[in-house]
Amino acid sequence: MQTKGSTYTIVFALITCVICSAVISIAAVSLKTRIADNRLLDKQKKVLVVTGLMEDGEAISPEEVANRFDANIVARVVDLETGKYVPEDEIDPSTFDQQDELSDPALSRDAPKNPAQVSRLPKHAQVYHVMDGERVNKIVLPVEGKGLWSTLYGFLVLEDDTNTIGGITFYKHGETPGLGGEVDNPKWKAKWEGRKAYDDSGEPAIRVVKGAVGTADVDPHKVDALSGATITSNGVSFLLELWLGDDGFGPYLQSFRDDNGGTEAG
Ligand SMILES: Cc1cc2nc3c(=O)[nH]c(=O)nc-3n(C[C@H](O)[C@H](O)[C@H](O)COP(=O)(O)O)c2cc1C
Repeated sequence: MQTKGSTYTIVFALITCVICSAVISIAAVSLKTRIADNRLLDKQKKVLVVTGLMEDGEAISPEEVANRFDANIVARVVDLETGKYVPEDEIDPSTFDQQDELSDPALSRDAPKNPAQVSRLPKHAQVYHVMDGERVNKIVLPVEGKGLWSTLYGFLVLEDDTNTIGGITFYKHGETPGLGGEVDNPKWKAKWEGRKAYDDSGEPAIRVVKGAVGTADVDPHKVDALSGATITSNGVSFLLELWLGDDGFGPYLQSFRDDNGGTEAG
């Protein structure tokens, strides 16, 4: 029986490798926009749900999601240090990605040591305004920080007094389903509504705590911890403390109150 030489084997392996790499590269490039579109769609859905503009699990088409989002929500980019809006001709809010800034030393800085274990802070952040005509009805703030296994990425909604919590959601995390993963549980998320982010002196005060917690009127600054998941629960407290404080959205919320004739949080 005639056997093929080693040259044939090497050439055959090379051609196979080149063809496979080409197929994988083409698939990766052609799927890139679809993946980005799906990520945007998912984020828009989370914002719509946490602001009460969409039911959790409501079956609506991607076009409807985009239409509902565009009809009700305006994205703005803010400078975290000054708290002022960045003009749209400087940074386009529709393409801005806060995570991209973190890998650019010119657009991010080392975070001061914080229990949320956030190591870098971006210069700019994206906020969403839920509009009622010309008036901003709710503010959606992106928040992130460490849980037990992972970084939790989510949104906190504040009413236009910049203090009353309208909702919370986490759109990305790697906590254990049934334990820390319960941050996604609608029943737990419902416990946040109507509670207060800040105390009377304007300091971030909302905490996830173990033990009995009353209604928002009785315990405005406390939310029930997730059972068997104290570390994730503490992570949520810590990340809110960071993002509601001076290194997070504190200056922006102050600027919002100044622009809208609001009073101090408390
Ligand atoms: C497999 C496994 C997964 C766990 N996942 C989480 C988690 O996602 N979040 C968390 O806070 N604790 C998790 N824990 C529990 C922590 O290790 C720790 O015991 C717990 O946070 C303490 O909470 P407790 O005081 O409410 O019991 C997990 C434990 C095990 C064994």
